[in-house]
Amino acid sequence: MADLNLSVDIGGLKLHSPVIAASGTFGFGHEFEPYADLNRLGGISVKGLTLKPRQGNPAPRIAETAGGILNSVGLQNPGVEAFIEKEIPYLRQFKTKIIANLAGSCEDDYVQAAALLNEADVDAVELNVSCPNVKAGCAAFGQDPVALEGLVKAVRKVLPAKPLIIKLTPNVTSIAETARAAVSGGADAVSLINTLLGMKIDARRMRPVLANVTGGMSGPCVKPVALRMVYEVSKAVNVPIIGMGGIETGEDAAEFILAGASAVQVGTANLVHPNAVTKVEDGLIQYMQDMKFTSIADFRGKLQIG
Ligand SMILES: Cc1cc2nc3c(=O)[nH]c(=O)nc-3n(C[C@H](O)[C@H](O)[C@H](O)COP(=O)(O)O)c2cc1C
Repeated sequence: MADLNLSVDIGGLKLHSPVIAASGTFGFGHEFEPYADLNRLGGISVKGLTLKPRQGNPAPRIAETAGGILNSVGLQNPGVEAFIEKEIPYLRQFKTKIIANLAGSCEDDYVQAAALLNEADVDAVELNVSCPNVKAGCAAFGQDPVALEGLVKAVRKVLPAKPLIIKLTPNVTSIAETARAAVSGGADAVSLINTLLGMKIDARRMRPVLANVTGGMSGPCVKPVALRMVYEVSKAVNVPIIGMGGIETGEDAAEFILAGASAVQVGTANLVHPNAVTKVEDGLIQYMQDMKFTSIADFRGKLQIG
């Protein structure tokens, strides 16, 4: 059996494994350390950071739905400075890459926080552009290609030293268009999908289940949408893609790689099995051995059509 090479290069971010923990489902790793070998993870995309600490939304903020969950956590986090001071030293104990996931409610917030991260010991920055732009009627940055390109350009200017990944929202008509806008702005890579906007209603109580009324849907129910979007983005842009949405097994990960992704993130599955990320990597290795692939490039984008 030839040696497997799982390493990938995501726009300058070199990972020893293509399997990454998705933002918001893995915290800063602490709770998972007893259950999973964090050294095996290609990277950890940390809980979404903002310039200032945030308390998040009122409870209930997670609800189960058929084949997945809805969440409206509302970006609860300690703020970028506390992350740099307290969490980076903890994460640096492990042989995994630190991806700082960054959110903001206006361009200036993103720019100020990105400038701090440029000087910090993180391996890459992933911009969550699903956040409402409060200065432009609260539509998400990632829903407006012009605003998105401007935001990416502004962040790129203050973040010359780190790979910049733009995490696309699926709540758009054309994901190819927003992917192209991100790349025109200077993205080194794109990741997708973030959650799909949804809601759940308790008919007997005649109330929404989430205190925030609506929330983001994730888990196995979103996988077909995510695969379609990764496939479309792979035809639209020439930067590496990190695919996610409902991945629970190695074969799920292989499907995203066949659709054009170079790496994958595992999100909601971590809430079901705390060692889901390593299980996905085991399954991916099994798939590659069965298929006689020795590297990710052997099957990336090799979906056979017709
Ligand atoms: C509870 C929860 C919190 C999340 N928080 C963030 C976040 O802070 N930043 C972000 O970019 N994505 C966040 N996400 C989205 C996930 O990273 C991922 O894009 C999405 O859930 C789809 O993948 P999955 O189906 O494997 O969970 C969150 C998802 C969940 C379920």
